[in-house]
Amino acid sequence: MTTERRQQRRGGVETGLRTGAVWRAIDALVAGRQQDIGRPLRVLDLGGGTGGLAVALAERGHTVTVVDPNLDALASLRRRAAESSAGSRVTAVQGDAETLEGLGDLQGVDLVCCHGTLEVVDDPETTIARIADVLRPGAHLSLVTAQRAAAVLARVLAGQFGQARSVVTDPDGRYGPKDPLPRRFHRAELEQLLHGCGFTVEQVQGVRMFSDLVPSALLDSDAARAALLELEEAVLADPDTAFLAGIGTSVHVIASRD
Ligand SMILES: C[S@@+](CC[C@H](N)C(=O)[O-])C[C@H]1O[C@@H](n2cnc3c(N)ncnc32)[C@H](O)[C@@H]1O
Repeated sequence: MTTERRQQRRGGVETGLRTGAVWRAIDALVAGRQQDIGRPLRVLDLGGGTGGLAVALAERGHTVTVVDPNLDALASLRRRAAESSAGSRVTAVQGDAETLEGLGDLQGVDLVCCHGTLEVVDDPETTIARIADVLRPGAHLSLVTAQRAAAVLARVLAGQFGQARSVVTDPDGRYGPKDPLPRRFHRAELEQLLHGCGFTVEQVQGVRMFSDLVPSALLDSDAARAALLELEEAVLADPDTAFLAGIGTSVHVIASRD
């Protein structure tokens, strides 16, 4: 099965297990911002990959620039945009956090999305500082990144207790040399990083508490995926279970530029 076909089976950005909860938060944020500023938003999607989020935002009327170093991902993004009703509002640029300054008309954007990327860049602090540079005061950052506690639980459930301990004790939250991720974050660490670069944190939400713990064979139907997303939503809404957000594979932070 091709990656694209697999993604279709897993649902679009609105309903996907990996993206559904994040999309709902962003959709509410951009709708509110659009009402406040009286026009569609200028969005930068840093590390936007194949553009699922970018095209969904462009279909809402916003103008989106995706900056990503991966040419194959950008080619898929261009195809996806061309097949959508919003292709003219999506621009794909090869680059990365380090080159944002030199990428022409990228100052004064209303929203930067940085999803699944801060854990792989060379220097997270420089990345957040570059993002702060391109945002107008009062504009927002939507940051989704790997949460350390989730990897502890995942390694325990895999019976890899030494690896689980490494995730706790390793400065970058890695489980060993075979860990594909360069780093994972504690929430407090992220909040400190953001404050240091001139952001005020407005929302912090764990996402994907259960979806990565369940065997994929159990998630092969639309009904099962919808039920799991609804469960995660209900767990977050209940004060007695909301603490489980701390075991989400990712943490979603919305912060505003001071
Ligand atoms: C896990 S994917 C996430 C893609 C998309 N944002 C999403 O949430 O599905 C990470 C993306 O970050 C990009 N990337 C890697 N290093 C980067 C860097 N230094 N600056 C910007 N993007 C980078 C990769 O090419 C890839 O598209």
